Amino acid sequence: MARTEPVYASFRAIGAYVPSKVLSNADLEKMVDTSDEWILKRTGISERRIAAEDEYTSDMATKASKIAIERAGLEISDIDLLVCATVTPDYFNMPATSCIISDKLGIKNVQAFDISAACSGFVYALSVAKAFIESGMKKNVLIVGAEKFSSIVDYTDRTTCILFGDGAGAAVISATNNQSEAFIDLHASADGSYADFLVTPAPGCVHPVSQKVIDEGLNFVQMKGNETFKLAVKTLTKDVKDILAKNEIASEDIPHFVPHQANYRIIKAVGDALKMKEEQVVLTVGKYGNTSAASIPMAINDIWESGRLKKGELMLLDTFGGGLTWASALLPFSGESK
Ligand code: UT7
Repeated sequence: MARTEPVYASFRAIGAYVPSKVLSNADLEKMVDTSDEWILKRTGISERRIAAEDEYTSDMATKASKIAIERAGLEISDIDLLVCATVTPDYFNMPATSCIISDKLGIKNVQAFDISAACSGFVYALSVAKAFIESGMKKNVLIVGAEKFSSIVDYTDRTTCILFGDGAGAAVISATNNQSEAFIDLHASADGSYADFLVTPAPGCVHPVSQKVIDEGLNFVQMKGNETFKLAVKTLTKDVKDILAKNEIASEDIPHFVPHQANYRIIKAVGDALKMKEEQVVLTVGKYGNTSAASIPMAINDIWESGRLKKGELMLLDTFGGGLTWASALLPFSGESK
């Protein structure tokens, strides 16, 4: 591709993987003091998937990646950057999960690194892919959102264990000279003053592994659920309204609004504020729960596989998570329809 022509990033293919084991609300009723009725009413979740004991984040990511690369019509060797968004890496310090994925895919000599932005990780990874491609440094970027959230959930804590699930989604972002395939806009942000809203205290240099970590369960995710909920609705509503207004696009012209799948009530509140019709809003939270960085690519995969997502159609992504981080993106799907 000649460097004199403008180069754009395009969303070329999607893939996903979900583990086979289902954890239903009825199963959770036997584990903690909760009920199917409470979970459904407060979150919209019926069930979530749980990875096998010996099935790691990199395994799920590798499976999703193979599908995305094949659907992009590319060879493994065409990938020149691999970015994995996860907060449940195979190893907490090193190596990066992206390096393990590259090995499992058989990619040699490729730049690979992880992004830690919790539920916003996939859209953060999109922004990295866009920047690398538009600067001319890379041509085909594989981005993955993958989580084995069950590895950091305390299954005696009813306030968190009902929410999260495991899974992976991957996308191939490629260089193009065709402006109609280009990302329209992407916004990503963070505010660390809310860091304690969603936190896994250990392991890290604040709390290296110790007996205290085990005794106090500091290795499990902790969440200020209600505070996070209120901030999520406020921030996401403003973020999506801003990106639409800035680009002079009306919400009724978005065929696929793909929000982070944290809680049906958050999605409904933001969708209603945008006056979205039911058929515009992508919903997978009921069957997968909150899969953090994997949630948005798994949801995109869902509409692609069901034949709803067609080549050239516009997607509005928005997400919110630990950090706190949030992000939104407006882009066409430039891959082949199913
Ligand atoms: O993905 C990253 C971002 N994360 C999120 O966006 C998650 C945001 N938060 C949420 O989705 C919701 O806040 C939750 C689903 C976690 C909780 O729903 P809520 O409507 O905010 O409930 P609450 O925390 O205000 O709790 C209401 C009551 C409490 O009892 P009391 O104090 O009123 O007697 C809780 O102890 O519900 C109780 N409760 C439960 N009851 C049955 C909390 N969890 C459960 C449960 N089953 N699993």
